[in-house]
This record gives sequence, C-alpha cells and structure tokens, in this order.
Amino acid sequence: MVIAIDGPAGAGKSTVAKYIAKKLGFVYLDTGAMYRAIGLKVYEDGCGVENTERVKELLDDSVIDIKYVDGTQTVWLDGKDVSKEIRLNHISKMASDVSALPFVREKLVSMQRKMSENGDYILDGRDIGTVVFPGAELKFFLTASVEERATRRYKELIEKGQQADFDTVKKEIEQRDYNDSHRKTSPLKKADDAIELDTTGLDIDEVCARIEKEVNRVLGK
Ligand code: DC
Repeated sequence: MVIAIDGPAGAGKSTVAKYIAKKLGFVYLDTGAMYRAIGLKVYEDGCGVENTERVKELLDDSVIDIKYVDGTQTVWLDGKDVSKEIRLNHISKMASDVSALPFVREKLVSMQRKMSENGDYILDGRDIGTVVFPGAELKFFLTASVEERATRRYKELIEKGQQADFDTVKKEIEQRDYNDSHRKTSPLKKADDAIELDTTGLDIDEVCARIEKEVNRVLGK
C-alpha cells in the first residue's frame, strides 16, 4: 500500500508521515531529501544550476542511497552520510532549483518507484500523488498559510542552531512555493483525488489525528 503526502514546504508533511509510518508500520520515504542530495552535489561543485551539461554529469556520477538506521531515514551521497548537510538552509533553494530539471526528476522518480515497490510505504514530496504514484490508495495534500509555515521553519532552524531571520525565511518559502508550483515538469499540485487539509492553526497532534482517522477509514479499521 502507498500513502502519498504532498504540499508546500513547512505544511507538516514529514512530521505527519513519520508519525503514521510508526503507528502503522509503514516505511517512510522523504523524497525531498533526494532532491536535496543532488542540490548539495551541485552546490559543492559550484557549477550553477544553469550549467545543465555539468549538472547532468554530476547526476550520472551520483550514488544516492537511502538507509534506515533505527527506523530513521539517512541519506547517503557517494558513500557519505549527508543527512545533516542537506538540511542546511542554502541547500533548500538549490534543491528546489535542481528539482525543476526534467532529467533530475526522471532519475529520482524512477528510484522512488523502485524503492517503494514492495511493502507498505508512505512518501512525502510535491508530486507523489500526481506523478510518482498516481494510483496511491490514499493521498493527502497538506497546506498552511505562508506566515505559519515560515514560523515553523524559523523555529526549526533556530532549534537546530542555524542562523535565521524570520522575514528572510518567509521570503525564501514564498520563493520556493513559486518555483515548485510554476515549474514546467511535475509542478506542486493537488491530485484531484487527494484529501486536502489546511493545517493553519492546528498543532501537530491534531494534524496527525485527522490523517490517522482518514487512514483508518480507508483501511476499514
Ligand atoms: O520537501 P523538501 O523541502 O525537503 O524538498 C526540497 C525541494 O525538493 C522542494 O523545494 C522541491 C523539491 N521536491 C520536488 O520537487 N519533488 C518532491 N517529490 C520532493 C521535493
């Protein structure tokens, strides 16, 4: 079984996906982490996303591995654990930029489908319900106001000890929303059959409870 959770940055997708995965014994696959790994590779090379020939070479040379350590997803790039580095704020923009390139999406989508072939998976991203698994048994589209998403992201960065300025975080989120929903290939979009949930004003326990209710309904529990 596949559960798809899509939506913009900071809508609560990963927290909900982790919670449901644990509760139901599903494997959680954070697809954004894979775009972040390629973003990191391009950032470290310094070639710039516009240099698509070089990005293609880097992509062909990249070995991305997702490993689960005590049930937590870790991301490996060319044999190195980059789980922490890919969360740095400047990598978010790079990830969004590389994710607009069709050849990057082609490779990562194919990996995502292969990885989730056998067993029960919950995936979060931008195109899971529309492109990666259009036939997913259950699809959610989480949203929240920009203000709220920026507040969540700002707190997260501060908690991780990263430098952050609220207005800058908010602008970056707006920019990323725009990029992700206006790109030509697989833009961020709600699947027609996805259940939409606006998480503005809800705390994470409330969001998880609502999603869990829907999951149980579909599973007939
Ligand atoms: O979910 P995230 O913020 O870690 O994702 C980083 C970027 O990767 C996001 O701005 C857009 C891109 N992405 C995507 O295009 N498709 C996905 N399925 C997941 C992420």
